[in-house]
Amino acid sequence: MKCKVCRGPAIAQFPAHNANFCERHFDEFFMRQIEKAIRRYKMLQPGERCLVAVSGGKDSLIVVDVFHRLGYDVEGLHISLGIAENDFAGESLAVCKDFLAERGLTLRVFDVKEAFGITVPEAGRRFPRFCALCGMTKRYLMNAEAWRAGMVLATGHNLDDLSSALLANIFRWDVRYLAKNLPVLPEGDGFARKIKPLALLTEREIATYAAIHSIRVVQARCPYAAEASFPKYKQLINGVEEESPGTKRLFYEGYIKHAGLFEAQARAEYQLQPCAVCGMPTSAPVCSFCKTWRRGQG
Ligand code: AMP
Ligand code: FES
Ligand code: ZN
Ligand code: ZN
Repeated sequence: MKCKVCRGPAIAQFPAHNANFCERHFDEFFMRQIEKAIRRYKMLQPGERCLVAVSGGKDSLIVVDVFHRLGYDVEGLHISLGIAENDFAGESLAVCKDFLAERGLTLRVFDVKEAFGITVPEAGRRFPRFCALCGMTKRYLMNAEAWRAGMVLATGHNLDDLSSALLANIFRWDVRYLAKNLPVLPEGDGFARKIKPLALLTEREIATYAAIHSIRVVQARCPYAAEASFPKYKQLINGVEEESPGTKRLFYEGYIKHAGLFEAQARAEYQLQPCAVCGMPTSAPVCSFCKTWRRGQG
């Protein structure tokens, strides 16, 4: 197996790109894919400040690493949820701190317990689906922190995440999510611009980059991870991808072209107004974040 570029020994095959690469040329390929995505979807202009939401997993840490290598002005944001099992919270925070510090970058930490007096699992006792509460809390805080700081928000969602979410949302015809599964969501009143620089890279490609660069990630697993909803859709798509390499990307890129159809529908169905408590945009009089975390306030 030879590298497509230099004919030296290749480290892995990437059938979707009809290519094998050696370490060096895989790295160049990976960086180029991200630079292309940034340009093609107008994610970030030189001089704009970017807040990367880091969980301690490889995807979001790699966004920090690549943006730093490309010379962008980046900071990290870690939301500490207080999940004590497996020392998940402690290890996640430590990994993020070290990773940003090694590169001389600032890490902002939002500690939910410090801010609201209880952890996410404690608040979750009132919730039928813990993951839904956790996801809503993270989405709200990531947006609010970036918006208030006047920064662009980047997350580590990759092609496997986005294509499986797309398939799941098509199964349910969830128009609201179908309008928002894009690599870039523009800024607006109360909304930071949201970018997903790994949108066109697969989990396998990202794992290869992590191995080459010895990226240290959180080993502890979130004890609630089994509740996450898309693994079966990931499996389905990977089955098709194995038969016809490149399908995953075509599926997602095709969606990007047609997403406008869903945007108009979502806008008509969900009228936004400022939340009566926090002022952030929401479709209900009080947003779900404030209903959960700011009971009795406001
Ligand atoms: P997930 O929904 O857990 O797959 O995470 C998707 C993206 O959200 C990650 O790639 C991160 O960019 C961000 N994220 C997840 N958890 C956290 C966290 N605790 N703090 C900051 N960002 C997070
Ligand atoms: Fe949110 Fe596991 S990190 S449910
Ligand atoms: Zn090579
Ligand atoms: Zn609110």
